[in-house]
Amino acid sequence: MTEAARGWLALQQDLGGDEVILDRPMVATPAASGWRKGAPPIPGPGMVITLPQLAFGGEPAWESLETVAAAIAECRRCPLCEGRTKTVPGEGNPSARLMLVGEGPGENEDLSGRPFVGRAGELLDKILALIEAPRETVFIANVVKCRPPKNRAPLPDEREACRPYLRRQIELVKPKVLLALGSTAAEALLGVKKPLIELRNRVHRWDGIPLIITYHPAALLRNPNWKRPAWDDVRIARQLIDSDS
Ligand code: URA
Repeated sequence: MTEAARGWLALQQDLGGDEVILDRPMVATPAASGWRKGAPPIPGPGMVITLPQLAFGGEPAWESLETVAAAIAECRRCPLCEGRTKTVPGEGNPSARLMLVGEGPGENEDLSGRPFVGRAGELLDKILALIEAPRETVFIANVVKCRPPKNRAPLPDEREACRPYLRRQIELVKPKVLLALGSTAAEALLGVKKPLIELRNRVHRWDGIPLIITYHPAALLRNPNWKRPAWDDVRIARQLIDSDS
């Protein structure tokens, strides 16, 4: 959707409407809209479209984790949609005190639609058990919701396309503590690129929420020496969960 169209819809919503009936196409031609085969239809004359709730900044304010997941399932904002088997929106306790953010789905996650179900996931479960925060008590999301080809790190445009989903998920879960797993998650949440060793072992903030950064479980599988510092990091997260503030 173009900025102009988005702004116009936001205005309609401010005026109290939740539906709009178009009297002319919103874009002149399919090509002009960037429409591709398989994408949702271009709004045309007589079509009734329901206005999404638009948050400040023009992004839809999905009202629940389920509506975020539904939007992700339909998402064609970046080329990763072409290669996905399933979207992996994230899952867990919708009012978790601890929310984890990984990088993006791998092969097992792409096939199952669930985050961290491969070997890295098994290690993550063990780490969570150590701090008595089993998987069912936390919420686990990723920076991108579709698998990048050959498990490469998501590109800046792909992260950007997924950013509203992660932001809204955090806003809806309202965790007491965020735990970023690996440098992609750290960069996405902090907005700066730095070596992980400089970011771990301290408390950052994401919109006021304490944010701990540690190694990605897949990195721990490759470098078992990092398990000890990762353990220190998750213990800081545990202390923050238990603190009164
Ligand atoms: N790695 C991630 O970053 N996320 C997953 O969901 C699985 C593996």
